[in-house]
Amino acid sequence: MALRNSQRIWILNKAPTGPITSETFRLETRPLPALTAGQLLVQVQYISNDPVQRTFISAGPNAIIKPGSPLRSSGVAKVLESQSQKYKVGDRVFGPFGWTDFSVVDDSFVTAPAAELPGKPYASISPLGMTSLTAYGGAIDVLDVKPEHTVIVSGAAGAVGQVVVQLAKNVKGAKKVIGIAGGPEKVAYLKSIGADAAVDYKDPNWKDHLAAIVGKDGIDRFFDNVGGDIFDHILTVLNIHGRIALCGQIAGYNGQYTPFPHFVEIASKRITLQGFTVGDYITRWAEVSKELRKLIDEGKLKVDNAETVVPTKIEDVPTTWTRLFEGKSRGKLITQLEA
Ligand SMILES: NC(=O)c1ccc[n+]([C@@H]2O[C@H](COP(=O)([O-])OP(=O)(O)OC[C@H]3O[C@@H](n4cnc5c(N)ncnc54)[C@H](OP(=O)(O)O)[C@@H]3O)[C@@H](O)[C@H]2O)c1
Repeated sequence: MALRNSQRIWILNKAPTGPITSETFRLETRPLPALTAGQLLVQVQYISNDPVQRTFISAGPNAIIKPGSPLRSSGVAKVLESQSQKYKVGDRVFGPFGWTDFSVVDDSFVTAPAAELPGKPYASISPLGMTSLTAYGGAIDVLDVKPEHTVIVSGAAGAVGQVVVQLAKNVKGAKKVIGIAGGPEKVAYLKSIGADAAVDYKDPNWKDHLAAIVGKDGIDRFFDNVGGDIFDHILTVLNIHGRIALCGQIAGYNGQYTPFPHFVEIASKRITLQGFTVGDYITRWAEVSKELRKLIDEGKLKVDNAETVVPTKIEDVPTTWTRLFEGKSRGKLITQLEA
């Protein structure tokens, strides 16, 4: 007899045009089929929370997830039953399992065995996951950080940002690395992982504080995770021939778009603005993963406080995810699904 014959799974109910509401998602119970050859029954243990999921569900013709479809998310799961030659009962696997508690999947749906890192059963979605790969591509390749650079990172205490700060300072040896984040606790965290200085953008005087930190050096490299007023202001502080890696603009994802009155500085200062996606680096995942692992072992990439892990019932998965947009996460926000 099968161990499970149903799953609970979150579905997009109504595509949002602004902030998430109680109507945005609905939880359904769906039957699970008996396994056939090559299939696995998995129990999802950890779910990755990513700001980009908000863009996937936005109303409009370019939506990646349409109403009536399950939410997409990568996660780490345990194999409960197996008809596969590749994975056996008890194996931990990494894949795009979505917002669900149990699932029957083909073994080809699994991305890889879960990465092993002591004390980090969720390593595949945190230090050795997509956000670290994004940070690596943006900081090392797009920004090409060098020792003579002053680097600024917005969303610096987030999943991508904290890795960028460490790569810029601890690996590339940038002259000065400045993080921008919300609140004194995040400012202290950024200093603890190597930032030379950090600014709390929720402080009404943050622009003055930043000016004092930057001094006459100006800023050579800007890794932007946030957009909005922060992006616009950094344009005024960037040096001639400065460079921006545009990773994301979370400040606008819930529909609060900000005009950029200083956008013209890109022309007057001959600034290079390069957008990029983690997809550009996906073929290098194995190589970068190995490199990140080495940096962790060498102590150049600190991972002790790199996540906010939230034990969550399946009913509360959207509530945990929305913490991303409320500043209620430091480092990678991970849902630990309660059994
Ligand atoms: N290009 C790509 O392929 C790629 C891949 C991954 C991620 N991204 C983008 O990179 C950015 C960071 O992603 P992540 O996964 O590392 O998420 P994250 O930074 O961990 O996201 C959560 C944090 O964003 C900050 N935030 C939320 N709303 C904000 C607002 N209105 N203004 C300023 N800060 C705000 C909050 O920190 P504070 O407390 O500091 O406000 C929050 O804790 C996102 O824009 C994401 O879309 C892009």
